[in-house]
Amino acid sequence: MPISIQFTQSYVGGSWKDSRSGKTYEVVDPSTSKCIARVSDCDAQDATQAVDAAHQALKSWQSKTSVERHGLLIKWFQLVQQSADMLAEIMTLESGKPLSESYAEVNYAASYIEWFAEEAKRVYGDVIPAVSPDKKMLVQRQGVGVCAAITPWNFPLAMITRKAAPALAAGCTMVLKPAEATPLSALALAYLAGKASIPAGVFNVVTASHGVDVGKVFSQDARIKKLSFTGSTAVGKLLLKQCADTVKRVSMELGGNAPFIVFNDADIEQAVAGAIASKYRNTGQTCVCANRFYVQSGIYDRFVKALSDAVKSMKVGHGLDEGVVQGPLINQASFNKVAGLVQDAKQKGAEVVVGGEPHSLGGLFYQPTILGNISSDMDIVHQEIFGPVAAISVFEDEADVIEKANNTPYGLAAYFYSKDIARVWRVSEALEYGMVGINEGVISTAMAPFGGVKESGMGREGSQYGMDEYLELKYLCMGGLN
Ligand code: SIN
Repeated sequence: MPISIQFTQSYVGGSWKDSRSGKTYEVVDPSTSKCIARVSDCDAQDATQAVDAAHQALKSWQSKTSVERHGLLIKWFQLVQQSADMLAEIMTLESGKPLSESYAEVNYAASYIEWFAEEAKRVYGDVIPAVSPDKKMLVQRQGVGVCAAITPWNFPLAMITRKAAPALAAGCTMVLKPAEATPLSALALAYLAGKASIPAGVFNVVTASHGVDVGKVFSQDARIKKLSFTGSTAVGKLLLKQCADTVKRVSMELGGNAPFIVFNDADIEQAVAGAIASKYRNTGQTCVCANRFYVQSGIYDRFVKALSDAVKSMKVGHGLDEGVVQGPLINQASFNKVAGLVQDAKQKGAEVVVGGEPHSLGGLFYQPTILGNISSDMDIVHQEIFGPVAAISVFEDEADVIEKANNTPYGLAAYFYSKDIARVWRVSEALEYGMVGINEGVISTAMAPFGGVKESGMGREGSQYGMDEYLELKYLCMGGLN
């Protein structure tokens, strides 16, 4: 077992616990397909014990002042930063992410803890002008209570901290189920929460190879007041249905199908840099990755040539190896999906500009790919690729490309490049997306609201708005004051 991996049991009520059944499951390095650790394989009863712990811890956590919660979160933030070497190595081993991206994610994850530690001190209320002289009317904001989170493998730390940090800052406690593929980063984060003296039961982590049973507990236990999920739209819809019986609050950060539009008047260098950042980050495995490129005819050849030059120079390999910028896909199902989408596009007339095949390294490695001549009958236009494949179509007309860009049930992120200020406003307003990158391919930060519309979900994470997801408004009406 690599030296950085020390935490393999669930973290419940401040203690490390085997699963009740004693079962464990394998965590695999996707670059080698070798087992790197075995972790507790929890079931519904283990999950319920974690909810017990979070429920027990709630009152005393709620009763801490916001300044006390701020102080504990800042300590957690500092420990995450100080543990960057350990966390980045664990992340690369379990997710395949190149080490430089893992370090960037550790910082990104820490930034959510820092941001919400600060926001803890700004949970203000309101005084409403009273309707009669003997009354005072106020609004107070209070934490919702016990929260549950289910997080994905593509950002094994940051997707946790952007849920846990606002929850804890708001005075809520949390039970978390990390993705089955990447439990080790979550457990290391739990260790650091304990080291930061975050009290027992405030942050609990339950690991499981089959999340369905734990997901049922998290969405059906009436003591849980809020469920936050990041993952596929299909699973999100199921969790939404399961949450209906207890009328839980939910945040859903689901799939995307991001258009990336390059107009004739774009700065090509900027557009290519944005395309590389948006498309190939985490080997194309983010919800906000560009999924469909639309390039206007006057600039098409130059854009495709410049993008090809950049993509051809990408080093593919194990994330711990020097200079690697593209890792493997996370598992065989993902690999098959990417290979199948490319195959379908080729059969329907796509031009292979770069790559287009499994990588010679074998296993779960796929070549960084560019496909041209993409048309709307190809599956790749309608499905989230989640792999290093840029699918490019040519377009002529602004109104037509906006219609195409919006023609999807998803509405997470969109990008476009243009130097025409009137067009910038027109297109920004016409795109039916929760987030729009304008001459910019990297939009995520703890300070801005992350989230989508349509079937990409509901709720926002990060920023001042991210705190609202974990707070209830309480209206206080005081009478008889004459
Ligand atoms: C995601 O893929 O779900 C998150 C990506 C990000 O935070 O930039």
